[in-house]
Amino acid sequence: MVHQGHGWYVEAMLRKLQIWRDRRGNLSWLRLAALALLLMPVGIALWDADAIVHGARPLNDVIHRAGFWMLMFILTTLAITPLRRITRFGQLIDVRRMLGVGAFLYGVTHISLYTADQMFDLVKVASEIAQRVYLVIGFTALIGLATLASTSTDAMVRRLGARRWQHLHYAVYGIGLLALIHYFQQTKADVSVPTFTAGVFTWLMGYRIVVKLWKVRGELSTAALAGLSVAVAALTFIAEAVGIGIVFSVSPLLVLQADLDFSGGLDMIRPGWLVLAAGLAVTALNFVCARLVKPRRTRAPSGKDHAAEPRERVLVSAN
Ligand code: HEM
Repeated sequence: MVHQGHGWYVEAMLRKLQIWRDRRGNLSWLRLAALALLLMPVGIALWDADAIVHGARPLNDVIHRAGFWMLMFILTTLAITPLRRITRFGQLIDVRRMLGVGAFLYGVTHISLYTADQMFDLVKVASEIAQRVYLVIGFTALIGLATLASTSTDAMVRRLGARRWQHLHYAVYGIGLLALIHYFQQTKADVSVPTFTAGVFTWLMGYRIVVKLWKVRGELSTAALAGLSVAVAALTFIAEAVGIGIVFSVSPLLVLQADLDFSGGLDMIRPGWLVLAAGLAVTALNFVCARLVKPRRTRAPSGKDHAAEPRERVLVSAN
């Protein structure tokens, strides 16, 4: 009897490990795609293996890669709420947890590789973290992400209750901010990529602020998304100009003037333009989806039609 119970438990655990299957146990193409996305950085690293191994500091190279992809997956997780509204594809929510946990696993890899770089001397690792501000900030973000990952199971959601769970998971906004600060602090020369990343993060936060302030139910209008994209791009230009102005003691106006110089080719396009392009691409997607995609409708028990709302809707509307 006990043996039978144990067998059932093992079987249930094995089924849970098949993360490419949905709650009903069916193969989910969406989950498979998310899994492929999460494994892509490993594929890229294997592809670059020769260059990494023969590079100046192979371990440092992979520390950077793991940190970079961790941040990218934090942003991807934050992009799910706007994207599911914009594409009218509510099922996207099904892969959010996977992406968030994936980001955390890249974080575990990041700090493990860092520990390996310090010859597994844990006392040295701890003292380095305590002495360097950018490591304190990175470590705080990682502890935060560990807390969110460990409370992401169905059982934890039930135990905490939907409201408390949601309030706890709002911490992801602060974690994203800390991760960005860590990224800027450890970047020595060109801050174009961190600046672009910060612009994307600001857009994702701006989207939530607009939804909250205007008490928007449903999707933001195409005009509102265009306005948000222009405003965030302008902010990116200004923040970059002020930052460069302070660090190099030049007038921010000169930096802004240089933003209009496209003679350097694609490589020289400033992050503000890329933020604008990304924001307007999403705006165009909204324009198309608003016309082509009808929200899926289900029949309510009362017999009245209503737009299909995934179970998690209550939990994730603001995240
Ligand atoms: C949420 C947590 C964290 C995130 C999102 C994160 C992200 C990043 C990113 C994006 C980079 C730069 C990658 C690049 O240049 O392309 C980086 C570099 C780095 N991070 Fe983290 N990190 C986090 C936590 C930590 C922790 C806990 C440690 C170690 C205790 C750490 C140690 C480092 C080191 C040593 C570098 C390279 C610095 C250098 O080469 O000078 N990070 N991290």
